[in-house]
Order: sequence, then structure tokens, then C-alpha cells
Amino acid sequence: MCYKRRMQSVIVTGASSGIGRAAAARFGREGAAVLAVGRERAPLDDVCAAVEGEGGRAAACVADITAADAPDAIVRAALDAFGTLTALVNAAGIIASGTIENTGDAPWDEMLDINLRAPFRLMRAAVPALVASRGAVVNVSSVTGLRAFPGVLAYCVSKAGVDQLTRCAALDLAPKGVRVNAVNPGVVVTNLHRRSGMSEESYAAFLERSKETHPLGRAGHAEEIAELIVFLASDRAGWITGETISIDGGRHLTCAR
Ligand SMILES: NC(=O)c1ccc[n+]([C@@H]2O[C@H](COP(=O)([O-])OP(=O)(O)OC[C@H]3O[C@@H](n4cnc5c(N)ncnc54)[C@H](OP(=O)(O)O)[C@@H]3O)[C@@H](O)[C@H]2O)c1
Repeated sequence: MCYKRRMQSVIVTGASSGIGRAAAARFGREGAAVLAVGRERAPLDDVCAAVEGEGGRAAACVADITAADAPDAIVRAALDAFGTLTALVNAAGIIASGTIENTGDAPWDEMLDINLRAPFRLMRAAVPALVASRGAVVNVSSVTGLRAFPGVLAYCVSKAGVDQLTRCAALDLAPKGVRVNAVNPGVVVTNLHRRSGMSEESYAAFLERSKETHPLGRAGHAEEIAELIVFLASDRAGWITGETISIDGGRHLTCAR
């Protein structure tokens, strides 16, 4: 079967760093138009230059995705800049440590607000434009959505929520031709853990341990996740919806022993 490649017009949250940044650049290589969303201007200008350097078009959108007016403003910015919206990539996120005994209300609310409520609200705001283009959503979840891990309670719950959000929205939107999928990475080398307060020394030890916790013997690279995101957003994945796809060097297959 042959697929006519159509011009993509994409919103990428978390575009200033890590997986979102790699996805934005990879979309650029497809010739896509990318609205890069983040909270600070300078890294967004940098990623826009990278997207254009790869052959795409880019515009920056400075927004905190948890703000009440952010979803409408972000979708409007994409439509103003590019005229259409063919894909939404929810890559922005945070991680934090905490157990059932010591996770306070505020850290719980912050985690769920950024990792789950914001993607939900942005998806809802993007639906009319995605229905018009018969487009796609790709949510960046985690192996922690599919499996339980100790000491990262709110993060695991937020990602499990993202997985179910993905499946439910996929069913709601399938009759309208919009696909919704998630990618579930294992440990990927980005700024995520450092931003949560992990020291350089602890992070180096964490990556070293990842050689044992991931059957393929290493942590992942943002570019590897970007490859899957771009595929799922494209018409090449036209019969895939509601999936939570592990991309984790086999980590989700393992059990403690
Ligand atoms: N790295 C891993 O091991 C790993 C594994 C599985 C899943 N993931 C998931 O992958 C996604 C991307 O994470 P990453 O690893 O690439 O981390 P990262 O390098 O720390 O990037 C996180 C991104 O999220 C954005 N962000 C955070 N809070 C925001 C807010 N309130 N409003 C707007 N943007 C916000 C940040 O933008 P600012 O510039 O505004 O801070 C940044 O661009 C996350 O959902 C994460 O849970 C990561």
C-alpha cells in the first residue's frame, strides 16, 4: 500500500528540552510545520532554529500548559501560524520522588496538573482542528504508566492516567477519523531527572543502573523516542489507535528477582 505523504502541522509541548525537542527537530526533517511550546523564549528560539535547519517551518509559543487559557491560546497560535493542525504531541512533563506515606497534596496536585490535566485540556481544545484534518494525538507516557515502581507514586499514577486518557479518547474520536496513541519510554537521557533535583552523581549512578534494569543494556536516547512519535503522528500509522507503545529496551517485560 502506498501512502501519500501530506504536509504535517504539529503542536509539540515540552519542545524546549529532551524528548519534545528531539521530536520537534525530527518533525522538521519531515518538512513539517512545528509550533514549539515551552515556558521560556530562548530555548524555544533555539529549537525553532533546529527545526528550520532540518527543513521544516517553526514558530515558538511561550506558555505554561497548566494556565487556564493555555490550551485555546496554543491551538489558536498553531492555526494562526500554519492554517491547519494535523497532530498534537503532549511531551511536556515533570517527575518527582514520593511514596504513599510522604506525597503531600501540593506535589500530588502539581504532578497531576502538568502530566495529566494539561494534556487532557489541550487534547480537548485541539479536537475541532484535528477532526477537520483527520489528524492524530501522540501522548508521551512512560513505562511507569504500564508498570508500578516504588518511590514515584504520583508520577506513576499520572502516567497511568495518560494511558487511559489515550485509550478513552481514541474510542471517542475514532468515528471522526482522529487517532490517539501514547509512547511509553523507559529511562531516556534528558533533563527530566536533573530537574527533579537529582544530583549529577546520583544521575550518573541511575544511568549506570539502567544498564541492568533495561534488558537491552542501556538507557534510551530522545531521538529514538522522537522516531516513534513522528511515525505515530503520520498517516503511515493510519490504522493504529488507542495504543500505549513500549519503547524501553524491554524494561516493561522484566520482574524483580
Ligand atoms: N526522560 C525519561 O527518562 C522519560 C521516561 C519516560 C517518560 N518520559 C516523559 O517524557 C516527557 C518529556 O520529558 P523529558 O524526559 O524530555 O524531560 P525534560 O528534558 O525535562 O523536558 C520536559 C519538558 O516539559 C516542559 N514543561 C514542564 N512543565 C511545563 C509546564 N508547566 N508548562 C509547559 N511546559 C512544561 C519543559 O519546558 P520548560 O522549558 O518550560 O521547562 C520541558 O520542555 C515527559 O512527559 C516525561 O514524563 C521521560
